[in-house]
Amino acid sequence: MSKCAVVVILAAGEGTRMKSKKPKVMHKVCGYPIIEYVVRTAAEISESLPVTVVGHKAEEIRQYLGQRVRYAYQSQQLGTGHAVMIAQPFFEKIDGYAVVVAGDTPLIRSCTLQQMINYAYEGRYDAVTLSAVLDDPTGYGRIIRNEAGDLERVVEQKDATEEQRRIKEVNVSAYCFNIQPFLSSLAKLDNNNAQGEYYLTDVLHIMKEQGNKVGVFTAGDPDEVLGINTRVHLAEAEQKMRQRINRRHMEEGVTLIDPNNTYIEPDVVIGCDTIIYPGNVLEGKTIIGEECILYPNSRMVNSVIGDRTQVQASVILDSEIGKETTVGPYAYIRPGSNIGDRVRIGDFVEIKNASIGDCSKISHLTYVGDGSVGKDVNLGCGVVFVNYDGVRKHRIVVEDKAFIGCNVNLVAPVTVREGAYIAAGSTITEEVPKDSLAIARARQENKEGWVEKWRMKKKGEGDR
Ligand code: UD1
Ligand code: CA
Repeated sequence: MSKCAVVVILAAGEGTRMKSKKPKVMHKVCGYPIIEYVVRTAAEISESLPVTVVGHKAEEIRQYLGQRVRYAYQSQQLGTGHAVMIAQPFFEKIDGYAVVVAGDTPLIRSCTLQQMINYAYEGRYDAVTLSAVLDDPTGYGRIIRNEAGDLERVVEQKDATEEQRRIKEVNVSAYCFNIQPFLSSLAKLDNNNAQGEYYLTDVLHIMKEQGNKVGVFTAGDPDEVLGINTRVHLAEAEQKMRQRINRRHMEEGVTLIDPNNTYIEPDVVIGCDTIIYPGNVLEGKTIIGEECILYPNSRMVNSVIGDRTQVQASVILDSEIGKETTVGPYAYIRPGSNIGDRVRIGDFVEIKNASIGDCSKISHLTYVGDGSVGKDVNLGCGVVFVNYDGVRKHRIVVEDKAFIGCNVNLVAPVTVREGAYIAAGSTITEEVPKDSLAIARARQENKEGWVEKWRMKKKGEGDR
């Protein structure tokens, strides 16, 4: 497999048709900016850092991509051909093939580009453009072939005749150029067309005229070519990318009850025999173990879920959850939480920056913030970790086997020692020693006959 010498990514355009304040390539598909996919693909087909042509809102793109690419700055967007001219200093002194791709085509796979490169090598082409056959070619440049079936030129939609517009084979905007002959034709580009732009597509024609060998490589999967110009395209790309991701997981042994309503970002890892119900959103670097069941409607971000754990209708952010644990419905696990094995986190429980030991139970209506809870602990209904004094957060420690009754406030900083019990309704401000019972609430007093006397009094007042 021969790689290409350099990849040039075109991402300077404004993307006017998106009607957005953001540069087009920073809009997200399945959780990541469009450009992310293109940069990853580029990394797979070339050893050198890709060259990205930026211009409109360049800073935003630079901030996102950082040192992962080299940058060429196109201050005025005079067309795709002009964009490549701007990048020229990065490849004019090298030999071999340069691949040029548009930054707005996130679905192109590296294997497809590799096939195009191989096609160029094997056929000793000086230029190859990637094409695809679409049912609806509207908006794309069309591939014009001569009688022999060879590429004649690419005609943009706006410059095309009625007859040309009926052609269904489109230009994808991914090319492989033999650098040296390419450079001499790039110098001959003009902007004599409907949009007054320097079209990169015209280089193909110029190279042909120059006597270079120019060809077309047709992608097998027309879904890959989608160039995002509008929000409608964005939604289409989202759907196609989602299908691609979901298919991969299903092929690796994950059951998706309804793949059309399961939202998994590209870097998520899922173990086999896990079952995922609709409405789950799995984001970032989330890792789900084997044989888990994700019942409907959870969102998990950068979290690790152990084997055979079950989650239902909950939100889990930047946290780790052990094996055979159950979470939800309606639990909220906030960043920095570390929950052990065989734990039960029930409904309306919020956990933040806290650790929970194995086999503990927090079944309902509880807030655990900035604390560490040991093993085999039971937190009753309505326990509150009072972690904030209005200025600072303090930590609460509940040791192994403690039993905290319902509606208990633990006021930080405080420690509940191993095996201690706390009576329901207590507000705990001091350490509870090992194996002792703490009661911190007003003693109950019953005033016998009080209601009868009160009613009589009221009645008397009414008579007056
Ligand atoms: C381009 C192709 C068209 C192809 C289509 C596929 C040309 C002339 N046309 O059209 O044949 O069918 O892609 O999606 O190339 N860009 C710059 N600087 C510029 C202009 C554009 O960097 O001065 C970048 C854009 O940011 C974008 C990419 O080049 O990422 C493509 O530009 P766009 O305007 O979207 O081209 P299309 O009209 O879609
Ligand atoms: Ca485009």
